[in-house]
Amino acid sequence: MKRILFMLIACTGLFTAARAQQDYHPSAENLQARQDFQDRKFGMFIHWGIYSILGSGEWVMHNQDIPYADYSRLASCFYPSAFDAKAWVALAKSAGMKYITITSRHHDGFSMFDTRASDYNIVKATPWHKDPLKMLADECHRQGIKLFFYYSLLDWGRPDYAFGKPIVDGKPQGADWDHYIAFMKQQLTELLTNYGPVAGIWFDGEWERKDADWHLDEIYALIHKLQPAAMIGNNHHHAPRSGEDFQMFEKDLPGNNSHGWNSGGVSALPLETCETMNGAWGFNIHDDNYKTVRQLVHYLVGDAGRNANFLLNIGPMSSGAIQPEFRDTLKALGEWMQQYGETVYGTRAGFLSPQPWGVTTQKNGKQFIHVLEYPDGGILFIPAVRQEIASAVDFATGKPVKYKQMPEGVFFYLQDVPRAAYDNVITVTLSGKTLKVPPRSKWIMNEK
Ligand code: GLC
Repeated sequence: MKRILFMLIACTGLFTAARAQQDYHPSAENLQARQDFQDRKFGMFIHWGIYSILGSGEWVMHNQDIPYADYSRLASCFYPSAFDAKAWVALAKSAGMKYITITSRHHDGFSMFDTRASDYNIVKATPWHKDPLKMLADECHRQGIKLFFYYSLLDWGRPDYAFGKPIVDGKPQGADWDHYIAFMKQQLTELLTNYGPVAGIWFDGEWERKDADWHLDEIYALIHKLQPAAMIGNNHHHAPRSGEDFQMFEKDLPGNNSHGWNSGGVSALPLETCETMNGAWGFNIHDDNYKTVRQLVHYLVGDAGRNANFLLNIGPMSSGAIQPEFRDTLKALGEWMQQYGETVYGTRAGFLSPQPWGVTTQKNGKQFIHVLEYPDGGILFIPAVRQEIASAVDFATGKPVKYKQMPEGVFFYLQDVPRAAYDNVITVTLSGKTLKVPPRSKWIMNEK
């Protein structure tokens, strides 16, 4: 009996550790923002910090065991002479991206914005003395791009976080955890007060302390109070909690769990995949494993066909310049989006669930069949299509696509259609009729 009681108490502790925003009812502005977010479909993730100087990714302090005091000296070397907010926003736009999510403070604890909560920030601790987030926010507002702030819950350096200390009763042992929570609230208040409308906060790092009491109920309520439309997402890899407005999938399409950490299923909230151009988030000179344009188009379209957004990362150099490999790829993606944007922006998942060869999206009564893997011999067979197809047209040329629909499925004949580089899109309209499968007695069968 005692044991059961103990287990119950322990479990309650676990469930309340992160604590969701109780009784959360998203505001009308928030629900509207969710729709707008889903319509935007394609965003730019930016990982930029004093770690960019070392060119070994944003985990360099931790991975190379650099003591905090030594690492923090990087701040005095950070002078991004090539930083140009206008050019960053223009780059995102030219790639067809409709929002930006930028690191305001990463796990290294360095604040990339003007904050009164800590002197360890870009305005006070670097010789540059400027606030890039302010410049970026102003530019985003000018150019019609939404801006999200990434915010790390984890901090490798602050004594009140006490990285590495065991968690007892929801707090790190021997540390002033309440002080840390108050610090985060102060910073988030600044972020949601000094930068105009903020599209949302992208939390990360909670996974480092599963048993800590993060006071997320208060933090989420604070954000929603300051800006009701601001969307909250938390990259904790579990099913979303009350108070969260979108669900993210790190380096995975929704529902996949390629790395063993995306275990939260797929919720009814807006969805977002985040992915790197090579394998690194922060600028990394050791990683030239760049994804191809084809892979990225397939990722973006694969997400759209699963009702999800695609947030593609760049890690600018410490100077603020963006390496040519990223720029070239973004240019190619932008050209593709110029031509095919109609089949992605503002769409929702289409009439067919994701298939081995591609996905479908839909908008304004049109279904877009994205054939990502060209079928053998140019004949695509889709089994068990019950909705009657009224017309089929090649999106790129506007020419009719031959098809034959039978109770068993539909054949599309693509032999006369020019083969697209990444994605043959067939625009289909449905008549609204549902086809019945004929009774088994009517099947022509070759059985004894
Ligand atoms: C992981 C990494 C972090 C990165 C994030 C982006 O949480 O720890 O460095 O910012 O993924 O999704």
